[in-house]
Amino acid sequence: MRREVTLSCKNIKKAFGATLAVENVSFEIRGGQIRGLIGENGSGKTTLVSMLAGILKCDEGSMEKDGMQCSLANVIDANKKGISMIVQEMCTIDGLTIAQNIFFGHEKSFSKYGILNLAKMNSVAKELLEKYGIPDVDPAADITSLSFEQRKLTEFVKALYTNPDVLIVDETTTALSQHGRELLFKIMHEFKQQGKPVIFITHDLPELFEHCDSVTVMRDGKIVGTYDIQELSENKIKALMVGREFEDGGKYYREDLESTYEDEVVLKVEGLSKPGAFQDINFELHKGEILGIGGLTNCGMHDLGKSLFGMEKAESGKVTYYMNKKTIEVTTARKAIANKIAYVSKNRDQESLMLTSSIMDNIALPGIDQLSTATFVSPGKKYKYAIQNSKQLSIKMHNVKQMVMHLSGGNKQKVAISKWLANGSEIFILDCPTRGIDISVKAAVYKLMQEFKTQGRSVIMISEELLELIGMSDRIIMMKQGKISGLAERGKDISEEYLLNYMI
Ligand SMILES: Nc1ncnc2c1ncn2[C@@H]1O[C@H](COP(=O)(O)OP(=O)(O)OP(=O)(O)O)[C@@H](O)[C@H]1O
Ligand SMILES: [Mg+2]
Repeated sequence: MRREVTLSCKNIKKAFGATLAVENVSFEIRGGQIRGLIGENGSGKTTLVSMLAGILKCDEGSMEKDGMQCSLANVIDANKKGISMIVQEMCTIDGLTIAQNIFFGHEKSFSKYGILNLAKMNSVAKELLEKYGIPDVDPAADITSLSFEQRKLTEFVKALYTNPDVLIVDETTTALSQHGRELLFKIMHEFKQQGKPVIFITHDLPELFEHCDSVTVMRDGKIVGTYDIQELSENKIKALMVGREFEDGGKYYREDLESTYEDEVVLKVEGLSKPGAFQDINFELHKGEILGIGGLTNCGMHDLGKSLFGMEKAESGKVTYYMNKKTIEVTTARKAIANKIAYVSKNRDQESLMLTSSIMDNIALPGIDQLSTATFVSPGKKYKYAIQNSKQLSIKMHNVKQMVMHLSGGNKQKVAISKWLANGSEIFILDCPTRGIDISVKAAVYKLMQEFKTQGRSVIMISEELLELIGMSDRIIMMKQGKISGLAERGKDISEEYLLNYMI
């Protein structure tokens, strides 16, 4: 049976200055299906769906919903017309409560004679939070009291409580734990069952194959094609994305099956504890080692990463680095940076980047000592340094003077990593390093990690992706409820099931 077309757009275009982000795109999606949208970083996915959700205005083109002309004035107008989107970046507003965030722009429904009924707003928020599987949260609390993931889940509630009939999900799963993902997939499939369309952007191919009925591939601001999921394979998608066959068959993890690292210890963690986060953590990192740390989102590993970098203070215990015949106790992030220790946070926009500064300033920041004499930083040197270093991960940009804020999600992540490559870091603490980056850049990051190994540099990779941990690590530390629950050495016997035993 042919279903009614629910949402379509014709010849839409969007340019940002000289960047033509979306070029003459026509797109159609019918009810009752989940449509994947995939493409390299910067290929225009977010820009396209932002126009469909009223976040951006298109320069040219038109949109139809249920066969009727539909133009969107803004997000709230789109919500009213039944279109909701869960966005790629964190978009909760600090300083407002959880309830105020959920109902932002819709406060009118809780006010009478101009007076806002906060108690009503909070009680409706509470009901909604529970309905969408986020209990034990006080809606009157400031949004900043929530964890990274809980904030993202609040955005679900915001997107869903108006009961939309089109749902757009932009690269959200990378910010979520397994639990959050399951919640999201359940919601997406409910939409499908109700005969509503879902547009789902992800860089995760297994996720795409598991949940989508069809997939639209974008390249350089244009649509390459739309395919039934049965017509596609991982390699075919990769080839469609980059416009050529993948010579290596798309392999990107390490191929050797044995752990290889030197005896020399470069980091020793002893009895490290931080109440509420992690407890009695002990381990050593070796020269030339990739040490994976895995577990559920709230197992304490993300906080541990911050403490190793001196960004968050542990209550007791010791973190000692041994570098260039020196013993260094890292107590502050500043000291870590001065000693060539790098840290990429999972919370990219808030903790790894200065969004309103240029790509150049972001890349140059950790290496500023190398670029300055006394108090003077040479602008020419800084410019060259940034250009040189932005090439390694091929950041898609016009020039290094562009603001980081205006880059696509994956290209921001490349900046977050590049700045540490630039200053010649020796030890890397990478928290979810491949978050939001497309498969070819993922391959480049993994290759880089292997190069570090051969150069005798060391990496701690904190990750929620078991396959990535297995694929890249010499040893894997598993954490559960703040404690180390297991340690696995690289070898052919390590499987996802094996690691899961230590996780849950
Ligand atoms: N506000 C903006 N100002 C200037 N350029 C922008 C802006 N937003 C996006 N762009 C540019 O438009 C292009 C498309 O970006 P978009 O965010 O749509 O990519 P994407 O496919 O979502 O990538 P990713 O997978 O990295 O999220 C990129 O070159 C990006 O730098
Ligand atoms: Mg995007």
